[in-house]
Formats: sequence, structure tokens, C-alpha cells
Amino acid sequence: MEKSGYESCDDVRKADLIIINTCSIREKAAQKVYSQLGRLKQLKRKNHRLILGVGGCLAQQWGSQFIERVPFLDLVFGTHNIHLLPELVAKVEKSRAPVVRIEFQESVKSLNIPVPNNNGRVSAYITIMQGCNNFCSYCVVPYVRGREESRPFRDIVDEARSLAYSGIKDITLLGQNVNSYGLGNGGGHDFADLLQEIEHISGIERIRFTTSHPKDLSDKLIRCFSRTGKLCEHIHLPVQAGSDRILTMMNRCYTINDYCEKVDTLRAVCPEISITSDIIVGFPGETDRDFQATIDMMKKIRFDNIFSFNYSERKRTDAAKLGDTVNASVKRERLQTVQSLQEEHTLEKHKALVGNMEEILVEGPSKNSRDDMTGRTRTNKIVNFRGDYELIGKVVHVRITCAYLHSLRGELTGEEVT
Ligand code: 5AD
Ligand code: SF4
Repeated sequence: MEKSGYESCDDVRKADLIIINTCSIREKAAQKVYSQLGRLKQLKRKNHRLILGVGGCLAQQWGSQFIERVPFLDLVFGTHNIHLLPELVAKVEKSRAPVVRIEFQESVKSLNIPVPNNNGRVSAYITIMQGCNNFCSYCVVPYVRGREESRPFRDIVDEARSLAYSGIKDITLLGQNVNSYGLGNGGGHDFADLLQEIEHISGIERIRFTTSHPKDLSDKLIRCFSRTGKLCEHIHLPVQAGSDRILTMMNRCYTINDYCEKVDTLRAVCPEISITSDIIVGFPGETDRDFQATIDMMKKIRFDNIFSFNYSERKRTDAAKLGDTVNASVKRERLQTVQSLQEEHTLEKHKALVGNMEEILVEGPSKNSRDDMTGRTRTNKIVNFRGDYELIGKVVHVRITCAYLHSLRGELTGEEVT
């Protein structure tokens, strides 16, 4: 948008263009958009030049219905049309009539929009693919983001290089299922090749990726955790549920035994690896016994952390045909049980780190105290410690002194790694 004369501003009340990027994965995220739009309506009244647009998955799903529901909206653009934003905004400026563009494209051009340059940040994300072919029965992603498509290998490597040049130290490669990177159009390169190539970029100190589908997590990729020096010892590996019956209904294509075997291999190859996951409770037909299987699985695996969700029915998905059968209070109770158990496990994992020396990439001042810096371990745990601004962007050694649920506290050892 800078090329069209726009520049970013930090006060929404002064903006002439506001774009809301939406998510439709669960109902709660969708509801938030409507309340946000309600608040922005006031600004439209005060500033007649203001253009208000929505992009992302909900825009893709709702299309012109969005304008029917929110008549003061100027622009709705879908997940394959982000690269057209300047053109679409120009159209609104000219016609002052609502514009909707949600067609899927053969090749997703928006994948190639480079991320903006670092503003003193040390970490950045690079999208390496978009869409998903897995069709988990509860999930709307394949419908709103389309078929899986990998971004060209060279484009990703060039972007990583330019991020490194601008001072980025920590890169997270993003895709719904990074294991299938390159199937189709990676030019003969797979995901492990991509990791190897980025490993060679000087300036990049840490490489992470998310997400990997357990059914496709290959031994080749698992071995990268011992071989690729910059690849951080953390994997997000969504399990979703502990009952094989529910996993089959979810169309996840693995059993709990398969999942546990992958975890064992990961821990054998890289004993310090931190493993995080996603868990859904209250999938249609989930019985007490199914739910108990989720709890048993959590106790067996002991994740470092999880994201946990109540099942949320999404239109068009296969699971929507089953009805939303688990009642809200049972879901709430199950979610609470899962979350309390995870808190125990997270704290236990954090306590086990007390006394350890950890390599921390310093991100900036801590939220709670101006005297403290904050950063992450290679295993992606937040550590706060007394330190100066000049440490930002450096990797330092910190001895862990205290463990909390959401973070760790440590002391600088004075030894700088980079
Ligand atoms: N209801 C609840 N959680 C969902 N997720 C995806 N779809 C749904 C749904 N319909 C969760 C999954 C996924 C994460 C990104 O969101 O756990 O891994
Ligand atoms: Fe959704 Fe499953 Fe694809 Fe993840 S792998 S985006 S849960 S369909």
C-alpha cells in the first residue's frame, strides 16, 4: 500500500484505510470481527474518506454476504486476492461503492508478497505454502484457503536472505502442513532441503517451523533435529484427541499409538526437544471414555504446552453433518480439566529447567519491568532477566533461577554467544 501513497499510523482514529484480517477457524474468532466492526462504525461517521475492508478466511467464506450484514463495509477480499489490495482500494476510492473479490486463483500470487522489513524485531515468519489438502472433518481451512500450494524454493531462500540482511535472527517457516512442502511445485526440493538451505544463510541463528501433521512427519525431518544446527529444539505437533475412535471421525489418519511412536522417535533423536500440541474437546459423539483417553494420552506424553479448544461447528465441514452433540457445559468442564492438567505439566517442565544454562535470543524489554530483558530459549520458552538494551538481538547465556507457569526467570552469566 506504500506504493499507493499510504503509510502506517499508530492511531486507528486517524486512519484513512483500515483492513481487518479475519480468521474463521472457530466461531469465537468470527464473532470478534463483528464486535470490532461495530466499534469502527463510529469512525466511518466521523471520517467520510475512511475505507474499511476485511480480508482473510471469514471474508473468503462470507463474500458479498459480509456487505449485506455490515452495510458500511467498503471492501471484502479473499485469501487468494491479497496481492490485489492496492488495486481494489483504488477502485473503492474511485467508485465509493463496495467491492468484493473472493475468487480462488490457480496460482496463489499473494504468497509472494514479501514481509515488511524489520522494525527492530529479531524474529520473522516466512509463509512457505498455503492451503491444505487434509480435510480434517472439523476444519474449515481447506474450504477457505483452497488447495495446498508451495511457494518456489528460491523465493523463500531469497526472502530469508533479505530478512537476515535486515537484522532478523530467528525465522519461523509457516505452512498448514510443512511436511508436504514441495510436493507438486517445490522444483524437486522438499522441506528438509529447505531447512538445509536456510541453515547456510549467515545472520540467521535460529530456524523454527509450524505446523507439521503427525501422519506426514517423516524420519528425514525428524533427523534434522539432530543434524541441522540452527533448527531449534521445538516442534508443534497437533494431536487433537486421545481416542482412536474420535481420531478416525476427525479424519486425522493416525492412531494414538502412531502418534506416541513419533514422539518417542523425536525424543530419541533430540532428548531436549520441547513438544507442544493442539487439543479439541467435545467433538461430536465424544463420550466420557473418549475424553478419558485424551487425558491418559496427555499424562503419557506430557506436552511442554498445548493450545486447547472447545469443538466449534463450522459450516461445509464433514463434522457439521454429525451435529454439535456434546453440550456446552460438558465441553466447558472438559476444557477446564485439560487446561488444569496441562498447567501441571507445563510448570513441571519449567521447574526441571531451574539451574540450567540456556541460550537466549534477546527480543527486547520485558513487559513487566523496564530493567528486564526478555527472550526465548531454543525450546521456545520465555525467559526474563536483568539486562540492558544493547543485548537486543544477541544470543546470551542465562542461568535459570525461577520457574513460573508462563515464563522463566534467569540471570545473565556475562558470557555472550554471539
Ligand atoms: N473447532 C475447534 N477447534 C478447531 N481447530 C480447527 N478447527 C476447529 C474447530 N472447528 C483447532 C485445531 C487446529 C487449530 C489450529 O485449531 O486444534 O490444530
Ligand atoms: Fe485444518 Fe487438518 Fe488442514 Fe490443519 S491439517 S489446516 S486441522 S484440515
